[in-house]
Amino acid sequence: MEKMTIRDVDLKGKRVIMRVDFNVPLKDGEVADDTRIRAALPTIRYALSQGAKVILLSHLGRPKGQVVPELSLKPVARRLSELLEKEVKFVDEPVGDKAKEACEKLEEGEVLLLENTRFHPGETKNDENLAKEWASYADIHVNDAFGTAHRAHASNVGIAKFIPSVAGFLMEKEIKFLSKAAYDPEKPYVVILGGVKVSDKIGVINNLMAKADRLLIGGAMAFTFLKVLGKQIGSSKVEEDKLDLASQILDRAKSLGVEIILPVDFVIAQKVELGVEKKTVKIDDGIPESWMGLDIGPDSVELFKEKLRGAKTIVWNGPMGVFEIDDFAKGTEGVARAVAEMTKKGATTIIGGGDSAAAINKFGLSEEVSHVSTGGGASLEFLEGKDLPGIASILDKKK
Ligand code: 3PG
Repeated sequence: MEKMTIRDVDLKGKRVIMRVDFNVPLKDGEVADDTRIRAALPTIRYALSQGAKVILLSHLGRPKGQVVPELSLKPVARRLSELLEKEVKFVDEPVGDKAKEACEKLEEGEVLLLENTRFHPGETKNDENLAKEWASYADIHVNDAFGTAHRAHASNVGIAKFIPSVAGFLMEKEIKFLSKAAYDPEKPYVVILGGVKVSDKIGVINNLMAKADRLLIGGAMAFTFLKVLGKQIGSSKVEEDKLDLASQILDRAKSLGVEIILPVDFVIAQKVELGVEKKTVKIDDGIPESWMGLDIGPDSVELFKEKLRGAKTIVWNGPMGVFEIDDFAKGTEGVARAVAEMTKKGATTIIGGGDSAAAINKFGLSEEVSHVSTGGGASLEFLEGKDLPGIASILDKKK
């Protein structure tokens, strides 16, 4: 169902309460990665250009309904102000008299950020009174917090009961690309999965297997499959309690005619540390005891590249190895470059949020793919085919 967007409403002189996801990493009291703030800029700028009075709501971290000074949005207000090149007013409470007064005093073209929504215990409980209070601060709700869409909280979902809620541009873009991946992929469709656990990706595997032509599996989760296939995996991470599940997935893939491609070689070491002794081994030769696979090897990267050839849609979720450590980053980088290459050849390439987004950023390739999701948990649940409460609450477009 198509959603109403900020383009469909008149914003002139209106107070707009906009839910964004500014849940960003902080370091030494400053924003360490502003990707999510930048991603909300087009919607904020558009609302300002239309003469709206913009009130921003976001959570940061998990303060559990308490005021936790280290999780204040103050540094975010500073960063946003630099990016917008204009003043961003800030109130040190998410609701209350001060917040209400600041909203009432707001002029056209001004921006105000309220303090961390999760400092109030009602936010994560989707408390109706809290939602009603926020709704009373504005005429319209704009939901641009895709990263929070899998949560039914007062500031994104509850509030939509009291004032109309429409999607911002980021939300619209995320829905467009992830819908394509989850429901309507142009074929051939290749899904690349990685990360540590099969259990984290089982919902995605089940949902996408029926649509994909091929599943390329890297990262530590590959070892659970390789163990089922009788390979020697040394001390690599494996989910012993998911061996049956992995075996069922392999069987189901066979019966659906979906190819599952596993790595053929690995970079192995005895410790997960930069600078330790490492080797590359073929999985058919086995990984020796006390050694573990920490990245896919060069032959696997070549194999994955070959299996991406001709794809019209590619989804990638989860790194191929411990990419945070340069010694074990080559596999993830190789796959990232291959995906970027396919984008140039006309494929729609979609990168799930969280670790894969961090990886593509690390290699400087985020502009060279079709879409990098800002949602970690939200993009996973979307790809699992679930209805997300923070999307369902946005008004549907009338036919
Ligand atoms: C995220 O970073 O995935 C979102 O901001 C949601 O945060 P949460 O997992 O604390 O609800």
